[in-house]
Amino acid sequence: MHGFAGGPLSPQIQDERMTTKTFTIAIDGPAAAGKGTLSRRIAEQYGFHHLDTGLTYRATAKALLDAGLPLNDEVVAEKIAREVELAGLDRDILSKHEIGEAASKIAVMPTVRRALVEAQRRFAAKTPGTVLDGRDIGTVVCPDAPVKLYVTASAEVRARRRYDEILGKEATADFDAIFEDVKRRDERDMGRADSPLKPADDAHLLDTSEMSIEAAFQAAQSIIDAALSRNA
Ligand code: C5P
Repeated sequence: MHGFAGGPLSPQIQDERMTTKTFTIAIDGPAAAGKGTLSRRIAEQYGFHHLDTGLTYRATAKALLDAGLPLNDEVVAEKIAREVELAGLDRDILSKHEIGEAASKIAVMPTVRRALVEAQRRFAAKTPGTVLDGRDIGTVVCPDAPVKLYVTASAEVRARRRYDEILGKEATADFDAIFEDVKRRDERDMGRADSPLKPADDAHLLDTSEMSIEAAFQAAQSIIDAALSRNA
């Protein structure tokens, strides 16, 4: 039992996996743990397709906000979620703080999750391989992925990284407000009933609190190489 968002893999996706033999790397973790950078690096290294699944929730939230629609109407939100085009997702446009907040609100809705999980699973079946990062990839979206990584760091370290990132672009930043935001987002993502953020039982934990992105990449690479040779 992997939670109720996705349900079992559809026969079509199962068939595709059996006949085309892809290789999926599932990367989960809380906001600002470094999983985005790590995922992009891994995808580049192995020549795999990459999907930042947070962007699918963000795109749904942005479409609702832009149309002046409420964030608490599950029927409307599901309809919008079904229209999200994975090919057009752009982190620069979707990175705004308000969009992230709105995304974590609609992400508690089971029908929204089901719609997005279906699209994410179709993406995961692409060959020769895929890297998906998010909150529920190893537990719900791709429970049979041969590699699962759970990338984390303390809330304080993550807030510090966000703070430094903002200061790189803007004149001021409020560390305390960012720290509170990080904790609030964690609570929402870990506390929801449907597909809460948690490591899959078979995930490798990578705590990046005191690890550089390079060291995290090296660690991930040895895990992936070992799995690839087992799969060969
Ligand atoms: O990772 P990112 O900050 O872009 O995600 C925005 C929000 O989307 C998260 O706070 C989370 O609530 C939701 N999300 C999710 N499941 C995923 C990816 C993101 O619920 N697989």
